[in-house]
Amino acid sequence: MVGIILNHDLDCAQRRQRLFEGALLVHTPRDATAALADHAIALITEMLSAEDPERAQFALPVDQFIAKVGPLKSRFTNDLQTKKLVREVLIAFGCDLETTYFDVPRLRVVPHGGYLSSGVSYAYKAHRDIWYASPTAQVNWWMPVFEVTAERAMSFFPEYWDRPVENSSADFDYGEWCRVGRTMASSQVTEDTRKHPLPLAPVETRSELRIAGTKGDAILFSAAHLHSTAPNQSGLTRFSIDFRTVNLADLEAGRGAANIDSRATGTTLGDFLRASDFEPLDAGRWASPHQTAGSRP
Ligand SMILES: [Fe+2]
Repeated sequence: MVGIILNHDLDCAQRRQRLFEGALLVHTPRDATAALADHAIALITEMLSAEDPERAQFALPVDQFIAKVGPLKSRFTNDLQTKKLVREVLIAFGCDLETTYFDVPRLRVVPHGGYLSSGVSYAYKAHRDIWYASPTAQVNWWMPVFEVTAERAMSFFPEYWDRPVENSSADFDYGEWCRVGRTMASSQVTEDTRKHPLPLAPVETRSELRIAGTKGDAILFSAAHLHSTAPNQSGLTRFSIDFRTVNLADLEAGRGAANIDSRATGTTLGDFLRASDFEPLDAGRWASPHQTAGSRP
């Protein structure tokens, strides 16, 4: 059973425990989350040169849209101010900055309709982040930039929290993924031709859940939850922010969600930065973060 916990005042350890048990945590706006969204809006408005960014796609040929969105996403991710604002979010949620690490925040841009669903706007099929070699101790933070409706949200599939999905994660190695990604970036290829881990059987959608929040809201969920990019049929482009956190104490104690079906190799832990000073995590200590597939803690 997956519960949705709204605005509970949990400390960081309690919050992680609920997430590792499968809960979805929804928080309404705080100053720090609204500030991060406002920062994104400022960059979006400037780089799309659009007063109404949610409708900019309708005035731009797709190649021009890609030419604007690519640099926008890179700038948001690499901007020092973005990292500082993420740190403020973590402070607002009571996270210890010395033991909390985050990976660089991403800005997702999901256009309406069939305009573009690859490359800079790759539409993720149903997946668990642990299929991409994320650690089971990972917490995902997801925030709308503008108002989200069910027609432009992300999808959760809660019934699969404790139900394995046949998938191709055994073919996924994070080191190889990064090597291919670097090659693609240097050759300016806009379409993502990398091999994503995918379900190998149809995913039941009866339990599909879409949470429609607005600017400053935050949805927190375990990296072991099955989720996807919902097809956007809303008439507006969806903009959202996401980043991930891990806590050193969880890594050291081996705490995290159960891994019921991922066989990915490698680890994304080397991408995580300490919240206090943005120093990278020494990932070598946790070269193999996954528990044996099929086991439960
Ligand atoms: Fe994901």
